[in-house]
Amino acid sequence: MKGIILAGGSGTRLLIYYPLSTLMLAGIDDILIISTPTDLPNFEKLLGDGSQYGVKLSYKEQPSPDGLAQAFIIGEDFIGDDCCAMILGDNIFYGAGFGTILLNAKRNAEENGRATVFGYRVDDPERFGIVEFDENEMVLSLEEKPRKPKSHFAVTGLYFYDKRCVEYAKSLNPSERGELEITDLNKLYLENDELDVKLLGRGFAWLDTGTMESLIDAADFVRTIQSQQGIRISAPEEIAFRIGMIDKDKLMESAKKYGKSDYGKYLKKVAKGEI
Ligand code: G1P
Repeated sequence: MKGIILAGGSGTRLLIYYPLSTLMLAGIDDILIISTPTDLPNFEKLLGDGSQYGVKLSYKEQPSPDGLAQAFIIGEDFIGDDCCAMILGDNIFYGAGFGTILLNAKRNAEENGRATVFGYRVDDPERFGIVEFDENEMVLSLEEKPRKPKSHFAVTGLYFYDKRCVEYAKSLNPSERGELEITDLNKLYLENDELDVKLLGRGFAWLDTGTMESLIDAADFVRTIQSQQGIRISAPEEIAFRIGMIDKDKLMESAKKYGKSDYGKYLKKVAKGEI
């Protein structure tokens, strides 16, 4: 399975390490980063070819913010005949058992040819794509930023699709706001009875950091967890090491690159088995 990080739009989706970690946790090691012509070179400078994380990173421009589903058209050659997951650059996920949840979603695409999206209860459903489902978590309807939401469950910015995602994306028409909507892509899977929703329940954190306030909330949350537990919520090198994408020597090498910074010290502790 391939993976896309969409950090495009008007450049608000800039917290790239978190989404990178999420795709890596799903065992995805071939990842395309899509961003604006202005931001893309900075991402490339920052993350390089991905070898320090044991993954292959490539880069492609989204010239204008024409919608999330456009990522699959931009990424057509990259995706080829594979399944593909996509995560938005401003989405942070944190919770016990998340790795297993991700692997299940990946398997659902690869083995069952089905799409998986994630539902999360929010207080302000008008701000999101909303999913309505029955007691068996079967999806009944999907709506993008409805004025009168049918449920309080937002569709998070993490999507797993089978290999038809490119073909489906190409068949979409722009919405009223002129964008190829991810919700319309999900609706195609829904109409074909090929969409599953996995609820991320209590005890799970999903932070969409698309506004200044939510960004500050996310920073507070991350700092609280990290300072209490002494572990990092998102350390791509640590994840790469723990799931076997890089070995101990490579981790040490990366740690040294960060010098005496807290992050460098943290990676050294991980390499020595102290964390
Ligand atoms: C986008 C999607 C929306 C989803 C949200 C999650 O909205 O269109 O369906 O719920 O991401 O972050 P946007 O953040 O582009 O307004």
